[in-house]
Amino acid sequence: MWLSHVIPNAYRLAFLGSLLLSVDAKPLAKEEGRERISINAGWRFSRSEYNTDKLAYDLSRNDYANRTDLTVLKPWILPSANDFIVDPAARYQSPSSEPTISSPFVQSDYDDTEWESVSLPHDWAIKGPFYVGSNVPVAGGMGRLPVHGIGWYRRKVEVTKADEGRSIYLDIDGAMSYSMVWLNGHLVGGWPYGYSSYRLHLTPYLKLGDDNVLAIRVDNPGNSSRWYPGGGIYRNVWLTKTEPTHIGQWGTFITSKKVSKSSAILDLAVQVENVRNSSQKLSVVTDVYLLNSATGKTGAKVASFPRRTITVAASHKASVNASTTVKKPALWGPPPSQSPNLHVAVTRLYNRNNDIVDTFSTNFGIRSVVFDADQGFLVNGERIRIQGVNNHHDLGALGAAFNERAAERQLEVLQELGCNALRVSHNPPAPQLLDLADRMGILIYNEAFDGWQLSKNPNDFHLIFDEWSEADVRAMVRRDRNHPSVIIWSIGNEVGEQTTGETGAAVARRLREIVHSEDKTRPVTASMNAARPNMPLPGELDLISLNYQGEGIRDTGPYAGLPGITTPPLYVPFHEAFPDKLILSSETAATVSTRGTYFFPVTNWTSAPANYTIGSGGNDTLLQVSDYGLYTAPFGASPDKVFVAQDNASFVAGEFVWAGWDYIGEPTPYYAARSSYFGIIDLAGFKKDRFFQYQARWRPDYPVAHILPHWTWGPDRVGEVTPVHVFSNGDLAELWVNNKSQGRLPRESESVYRFRWDNVTYEAGEVRVVTYKKGKEWASDRVVTAGEPSALRLSADRTAIAGNGLDLSFLTVTVVDNKGNVVPQADNEITFTASGGGGGEVVATDNGDPRDFTSFASRTRKAFSGLALGIVRASRKGEVTVTASAPGLARATVKLTAK
Ligand SMILES: *[C@@H]1O[C@H](CO)[C@@H](O)[C@H](O)[C@H]1NC(C)=O
Ligand SMILES: *[C@@H]1O[C@H](CO)[C@@H](O)[C@H](O)[C@H]1NC(C)=O
Ligand SMILES: *[C@@H]1O[C@H](CO)[C@@H](O)[C@H](O)[C@H]1NC(C)=O
Ligand SMILES: *[C@@H]1O[C@H](CO)[C@@H](O)[C@H](O)[C@H]1NC(C)=O
Ligand SMILES: *[C@@H]1O[C@H](CO)[C@@H](O)[C@H](O)[C@H]1NC(C)=O
Ligand SMILES: *[C@@H]1O[C@H](CO)[C@@H](O)[C@H](O)[C@H]1NC(C)=O
Ligand SMILES: *[C@@H]1O[C@H](CO)[C@@H](O)[C@H](O)[C@H]1NC(C)=O
Ligand SMILES: *[C@@H]1O[C@H](CO)[C@@H](O)[C@H](O)[C@H]1NC(C)=O
Repeated sequence: MWLSHVIPNAYRLAFLGSLLLSVDAKPLAKEEGRERISINAGWRFSRSEYNTDKLAYDLSRNDYANRTDLTVLKPWILPSANDFIVDPAARYQSPSSEPTISSPFVQSDYDDTEWESVSLPHDWAIKGPFYVGSNVPVAGGMGRLPVHGIGWYRRKVEVTKADEGRSIYLDIDGAMSYSMVWLNGHLVGGWPYGYSSYRLHLTPYLKLGDDNVLAIRVDNPGNSSRWYPGGGIYRNVWLTKTEPTHIGQWGTFITSKKVSKSSAILDLAVQVENVRNSSQKLSVVTDVYLLNSATGKTGAKVASFPRRTITVAASHKASVNASTTVKKPALWGPPPSQSPNLHVAVTRLYNRNNDIVDTFSTNFGIRSVVFDADQGFLVNGERIRIQGVNNHHDLGALGAAFNERAAERQLEVLQELGCNALRVSHNPPAPQLLDLADRMGILIYNEAFDGWQLSKNPNDFHLIFDEWSEADVRAMVRRDRNHPSVIIWSIGNEVGEQTTGETGAAVARRLREIVHSEDKTRPVTASMNAARPNMPLPGELDLISLNYQGEGIRDTGPYAGLPGITTPPLYVPFHEAFPDKLILSSETAATVSTRGTYFFPVTNWTSAPANYTIGSGGNDTLLQVSDYGLYTAPFGASPDKVFVAQDNASFVAGEFVWAGWDYIGEPTPYYAARSSYFGIIDLAGFKKDRFFQYQARWRPDYPVAHILPHWTWGPDRVGEVTPVHVFSNGDLAELWVNNKSQGRLPRESESVYRFRWDNVTYEAGEVRVVTYKKGKEWASDRVVTAGEPSALRLSADRTAIAGNGLDLSFLTVTVVDNKGNVVPQADNEITFTASGGGGGEVVATDNGDPRDFTSFASRTRKAFSGLALGIVRASRKGEVTVTASAPGLARATVKLTAK
């Protein structure tokens, strides 16, 4: 891969461009060769639900099957993959002439002033309206939001005198999906898979001045995903300007080996790209500095790689390698036992005259990771239990549009939970999410696909797998391989090919080899919910990654008789079949619940399907599931069942719970709803009861005691059996109802974090628990019967934010009675307003209710189980006053400062 290879057509075209008048122009003195400019602002946008512009990537989609009127553009798009296809013979040849198309939107002089003004990242679907009911274009699985259709984005870009002779690239972090880019009427290229980042070379089509028009078309098919994909250019977009000889796209790769407290060896590879028409002799120098994880500031220099010289032929790429040693390296590792220390390698490229032609910074971490079949996962020699969750990419009420603060908040709440790992299910994330994970010390399981050649939905990735899978896998690995947070590559999730014998195994082998040709330092896996130890597919994987099979599927009492396969617990059989491979669970639990909602009677089992007829898991009329944390999808298991299974197999490295945060779409078991029930945390970011069950297990030194359910029931519950459960990591617990002891319970076992008093009868008043550990008081909790709603309470996660239109404050409204107690079933309608000199704006609201069909953009929202969320940003410096009001209740105000 690192050998030089012929630059594909798109690059050679550069020489036809009017910009390269002076190919030997002196490097610009002021900067160090490169600029990266955000072009998120200033776009015009228009969406059409149906294909009216008569363009298509391809006709393989089921809804395009009979559209003979569409112009197919695939032959012009495929060459965008060429840099990511290793075999020269397999690369795509661009047609000799540009396609003839009739859409006026690509023309520079098209008048788009009537179009909507938008800033990227942008998700055209998130504001709704929701499709409610059946026979709708987008049903529950994809979130009932208008994700489908064709979106056009147009914007001008400026090229100045100073840019003459430079190479200018468009970098798109992600567009959902089938994006294609025109510049000044010329089709430049595109990329179908919405989760890949890609680059296009614009230079040949640019002209001096400010009326270069970029037109980007996004064509998002319906029925293409098992969850909410969002729609549009939902990640950042950049212009990168370099000298024609420069460090290539994702062109650095740094790995560490022989890592100890006293030293580490760093290996560096730098790929240099030369789009000039003459060969270039350069030297490459790289210095390594400490990088402060909290502030992002560069610290002391800790090492330098020896200078290397390199000759890069015209229109070619070439690589150099170098190694160096860092003494007493500051190692990267997950908290709380380790620290996420970072480094930055600054690579400079010098020409023959010793002028700097390019500078490129690579953030990385020095750490050793070991995947041991018996000991599990080790970081820097220490066993780290993987305490992970799965998240989809949406950010709740903000949709798929990436926002760094919203992503950071998700990770912060997960760290409070004691979570140290995240599986980005089932696709590569926004690159900035990995920057956050590096900084915060979160281990990442990075996954390429949800499917291969076999489909899960009519219009999903299987349509383009054969032509794009190599490019998408290489793009993922090259983009993300310097992140110390990334520990595992997954080539697929629950693919149908698990059970197709040698056929599926051959696909796995091909993808694994692609990953390893880009990165030999990390294991490759695929998440398996159906492959058994005696099947060929697991043999192709470096480590065994099980979905639900470890703890067993439909194998205990209340699941008997459910349709679907029954699987006994398979940790031990897999360990016996693959004694040299580490085993972890990439998905566990699939417990479902609605925050603050409880149904009776409660099952006497430790795990039961939500649709169980004896215990009331779900209510089919309310479309809600009880929050006792005992009820699951038909294939799932409660946390209680998973913990026992994991602890009975000490070799298991840990788990990724399905799911960390609720997400839009996939609302198992109620597809009439809009968002999932799987989260430990609801869609608004509020904690469900089992948050404290995981926290008790994952933070053994942090005293946890949490009572459920709430204790504010109507007259019909008085005298009824109302089980009280307490999540705690104490070893003994005593419960009182109105000061009457309900008895002391010892902890059942080291794997159990739930104390259950299943015979409590309800009477209004107070429930109190005290837990003990080793004879000493450890943690306590108390809930009381609340009165009528009387006032609102408002609190902000941060009261000082940047006034840049991007930073966010998340404000929680709590409905309280006249004594300040939370009213747990309150559903008052709350209106959020923002005012003041900071240009405050209420961007979105939510309440975590999976069946609330009020637009996320609405400033008025009903509280759900006593809570609602308002998300506020500020456009400039100044104060922002946020007020929450509801008819009949005392309002609440919070002042924010925008800096
Ligand atoms: C396409 O045409 C065929 C033959 O007329 C028909 O059976 C099929 O339903 C049509 N498909 C779509 C998506 O309209
Ligand atoms: C998705 O498929 C369903 C069922 O065939 C259909 O009713 C719906 O219109 C499709 N949605 C889109 C956006 O094509
Ligand atoms: C340089 O490093 C890359 C990436 O580790 C590796 O693939 C390649 O073989 C190395 N090349 C040489 C000449 O050592
Ligand atoms: C390189 O490009 C310049 C400008 O287009 C041209 O004048 C020159 O002949 C080219 N050189 C070679 C070796 O092709
Ligand atoms: C739960 O109760 C049912 C009915 O009384 C009983 O058959 C079952 O064995 C009980 N389950 C457990 C785990 O005690
Ligand atoms: C619950 O189970 C019944 C009987 O198997 C089935 O008809 C119904 O669809 C199920 N409901 C859900 C929400 O799974
Ligand atoms: C579901 O909730 C509705 C509304 O509260 C109630 O009328 C119904 O009895 C509940 N169903 C079950 C099975 O509990
Ligand atoms: C709950 O009450 C029933 C009936 O009174 C009794 O049989 C059972 O043992 C009690 N269970 C517990 C855990 O106290």
